[in-house]
Amino acid sequence: MSFEFIAEKLVYGGDALGHYQGRTILVPRALPGERLEVEEVRTAKGVTHARPLRVISPAPERVSPPCPYFGRCGGCHYQHLNYQNQTVWKREIVRETLRRIGKIVWENEIPIHASEPWNYRNQAQFKVSHSGGRTELGFFAAESHQLVPVDQCLILSPRLNLVLNVLRSASWSENLTDCSEIEMLADDQDENVMLTLRGKFTEPRGEALARQCLEEVPGASTVAVERKSGFRVQGEPALDYRAGEFEYQISPGSFFQASRHLLPAMVAAVTGGQSGALALDLYAGVGLFTLPLAGAFDRVVGVEGNRGAARDLEANARRHELGNVRAVGESAYDFLRRFAQAGPDLVVLDPPRAGVGARTLELLAKLRPARLHYVSCHPPTLARDLAFLSSRGYLLNMIEMFDFFPHTSHIECLARLTRNANF
Ligand SMILES: C[S@@+](CC[C@H](N)C(=O)[O-])C[C@H]1O[C@@H](n2cnc3c(N)ncnc32)[C@H](O)[C@@H]1O
Repeated sequence: MSFEFIAEKLVYGGDALGHYQGRTILVPRALPGERLEVEEVRTAKGVTHARPLRVISPAPERVSPPCPYFGRCGGCHYQHLNYQNQTVWKREIVRETLRRIGKIVWENEIPIHASEPWNYRNQAQFKVSHSGGRTELGFFAAESHQLVPVDQCLILSPRLNLVLNVLRSASWSENLTDCSEIEMLADDQDENVMLTLRGKFTEPRGEALARQCLEEVPGASTVAVERKSGFRVQGEPALDYRAGEFEYQISPGSFFQASRHLLPAMVAAVTGGQSGALALDLYAGVGLFTLPLAGAFDRVVGVEGNRGAARDLEANARRHELGNVRAVGESAYDFLRRFAQAGPDLVVLDPPRAGVGARTLELLAKLRPARLHYVSCHPPTLARDLAFLSSRGYLLNMIEMFDFFPHTSHIECLARLTRNANF
């Protein structure tokens, strides 16, 4: 059934929200104020999802999406909206999510750190499909496992597009018949690349493919084949990435940030202007924030749930001769259950999308840290966790947005909190 719809606002996830005959309607690729003809796709939990058929009256901020895959590939949501307005809407979404989920009315400024809007991703996961004797590389369509083959991706770094070109070439695709996913991470110079291959390889075929990648893929310096028991790595054991003053070793399987241009600004915002006796960096990865904190605190503990990444953190501290850093390879919860030193001056939290959660925050609040810097990639769990922290005496002093992923619905924020002395 098709009907006319007026988009009222953008909501988290990329859709525009409006109403029709008393129902809530969500439509992708629509902009606030626009009138569109849309077609119902499905209704679930009282919300109707519809797709746009025609824009009847376009918003002035509407632009022509430069990518030919936009609307089919699930990666980007906002290429039809000019870049400046994307960041303004994302800021509104942060405010609304804080209000709706956290019951936090934040009326102060939310500074925006805008990014280079194109060629910013230093990391990508390409899906590989095989059908009718053809091998294709690309991304999944939105909410589906349907592959959209892509020749190039406008948000990827030039080096990763070059790698994609080679892997997609006719002479290469037959090498990938056992492969289901290829992950790529380029270094800060966009020169060296770590490839992680996933699929159903026999050991000799996996090894042969990894060797061939090293020899023929431009920039490939580390190639890992993921196995149940870990990674078989050829070439350099890890990729080196320089961010600000420090160089980080990143092994296959370790997390590293995927947006290259704003990284130094984010590191400076999280770690700059801080000092004291003790800082904890929970969800530390390979130590992106731990290392810069080591110059300003007597002691820094970096806690990371992935053992391989925790080993990278330890090696990274050693490489920079930071004897005051301790790397702990366990979950934040397990660490906090045992850690007894109350009153850290600063705790950095940078959890995955699931957020930190009440169980871990309860333990953290008992330590009574003076300041918290919470880096979030998922506003709903940030709002939930900030509400909890507020109930334990923490005041939200500032929230800023780093637009790590232009054209997508992803939103990255830094919230700074201090402990209310009267609590
Ligand atoms: C968003 S990343 C941030 C990493 C690092 N701060 C950075 O910016 O590079 C989240 C990290 O938390 C780790 N992690 C996930 N669950 C965890 C847990 N329960 N306890 C500690 N670390 C965890 C992941 O392995 C990942 O390295």
